[in-house]
Amino acid sequence: MNQGWRRYFWAGGAVAMICVMFGLVSYSVTLYRLFCEVTGAGGATQRVDSDTAQVTDTYVTVFFNTNVAPNLPWKFRPLQRSVRVRLGEETPAFFEAENLSDEPIVGRATFNVTPEKAGLDFKKIECFCFTEERLAPHTKVQMPLQFYVDPDLAKRASTRDVDQITLSYTFFRAADPGEGADLGRFAGVPTPAAGEQLFAENCAACHASDHAKIGPALGGVLGRPAGTVPGYPYTRALAGSGLVWTAATLDRWLADPRKLVDGTAMPMAIADAGARAAIIAYLEQLPPPPAPQAADQAAAKPGPGGM
Ligand code: HEC
Repeated sequence: MNQGWRRYFWAGGAVAMICVMFGLVSYSVTLYRLFCEVTGAGGATQRVDSDTAQVTDTYVTVFFNTNVAPNLPWKFRPLQRSVRVRLGEETPAFFEAENLSDEPIVGRATFNVTPEKAGLDFKKIECFCFTEERLAPHTKVQMPLQFYVDPDLAKRASTRDVDQITLSYTFFRAADPGEGADLGRFAGVPTPAAGEQLFAENCAACHASDHAKIGPALGGVLGRPAGTVPGYPYTRALAGSGLVWTAATLDRWLADPRKLVDGTAMPMAIADAGARAAIIAYLEQLPPPPAPQAADQAAAKPGPGGM
């Protein structure tokens, strides 16, 4: 191949790459500003009432991804790998940060959304994005993110095909450690840790994450159609309800199962909304039970002609 052509090719590639990277950086900052201005996420929180948001029947799966800059001695992880949500539906997600060092440290979170074209539709209602966050030595906090994906996603021709969105957070060490809101403020909010305790007290007599007790296994319940764990003897009322378990439907279910599904066998109700939110947060990060059917099917599949 012609040497000169190659040189042009690589030089052009490098220039294009730099432009793309530059564009991404400025774009995500703008995007961030936009989210946080629109949603008030950066500081004062403006809540959007989920009952007034238009919830549609189109689902997207949101994946969560976290990174920590090498000079920040924190552990930072999402408590759920992904959630399946309906467009317009307000949904919580949780992240856990732990300061592994002996000193208080201020971290600064940045995020980006892929595919980029879906970025504008990813609305945060409550988050710790881009703000300086202080974490005391050897402490661990669970941080909530409230978000919804705007129904515009399915209306716009350019984004109609998007059914998966990835939200990536990166924590950097803040240059000036004097500032920073204390992450301890998240101590009082409904988190999976609080939910685990409430689950143990209110639900564990009848439910486990990976096997049926009196009630069905609840691992992976978010995003699952109601009454569909194989082998569990559901009431006809629940199996025929047509419900899909999301944060919103679970909230109504836990508030009063018999009001949501007339004739269900589940007797338990949780009156306190904060307690329900914490329990749902806990359920959300339970891993789905391993799918034995998939393995069975693979093993049992004879293949054409006894192969
Ligand atoms: C006394 C036993 C009992 C308690 C306590 C109980 N449940 Fe249930 N739960 C059931 C039964 C039984 C069903 C199946 C209902 C049916 O088939 O109508 C069920 C169903 C469910 C379902 C639907 C699952 C599916 O696969 O569709 C969810 C979600 C659930 N329970 C959550 C909870 C949570 C969270 C708590 C604690 C706040 C709780 N339950 C407490 C007995 C219980």
